[in-house]
Amino acid sequence: MVLDEAKRNAAAAAMEFVEDGMVIGLGTGSTASFFVEFLAEEVEEGLSVKGVPTSEATHKLAMELGVPLLPVEQVERIHLTIDGADEIDAHANLIKGGGGALLREKIIANASDHVIVIAYAGKVAETLGSFPLPVEVTPFGFTLTAKKVYDALRKTGIDKPVVKLREASGKPGPLVTDGGNYILDCECKTIPSPQATALALSVIPGVVEHGLFLSMTRTVILGDEEGAEILEFEY
Ligand code: 5RP
Repeated sequence: MVLDEAKRNAAAAAMEFVEDGMVIGLGTGSTASFFVEFLAEEVEEGLSVKGVPTSEATHKLAMELGVPLLPVEQVERIHLTIDGADEIDAHANLIKGGGGALLREKIIANASDHVIVIAYAGKVAETLGSFPLPVEVTPFGFTLTAKKVYDALRKTGIDKPVVKLREASGKPGPLVTDGGNYILDCECKTIPSPQATALALSVIPGVVEHGLFLSMTRTVILGDEEGAEILEFEY
């Protein structure tokens, strides 16, 4: 409950960046869902925006709450994206993908003028890696790809990584993403050089995307039970 309050406070603070007429990327996860709820309330009051969801789950939520949506194929410009994160370092680099939506989240973030991350304050860490790094891979050859992922992690300074196929919740078998892929969760403990790891992962055939979001956001809103703090980063 306290955690929900912290997430809700971060989401509420993001509303001050929303302007009439914006096309807004809608993130995935519990914190981003609070933002969609706040946005829906303003839409009800007459705010005119269009949302671009980053997952089927967010699409469903936004539809149910009456937030107008734009099919991604029709998007020409995304003014603002509001999304959560699993871990945030001191340079606003992120691990994302705990909810399995990293591919669409990264496409939308990369196409956005401004990305704002909303999270409860406990997600900040000096160095990334406590949260297992999600890597989305094609089902074809995923065991071979997993070995290459392990090698890439080792080569970029990660000691004894553990690479695990993410299981679906509530049914047997692997989790299948909105894009029809699998997720490898990579326990790294610490990622000493996120840029090197990101590059090494991105060149492996079979890796569709990884959850390192580096230099993609300049605004981080951290919530706690009292309120929210807005942090601005320079590159
Ligand atoms: C989904 C994500 C989410 O943004 C991340 O998992 C944070 O979720 P929550 O707000 O529920 O803690 O990256 O792929």
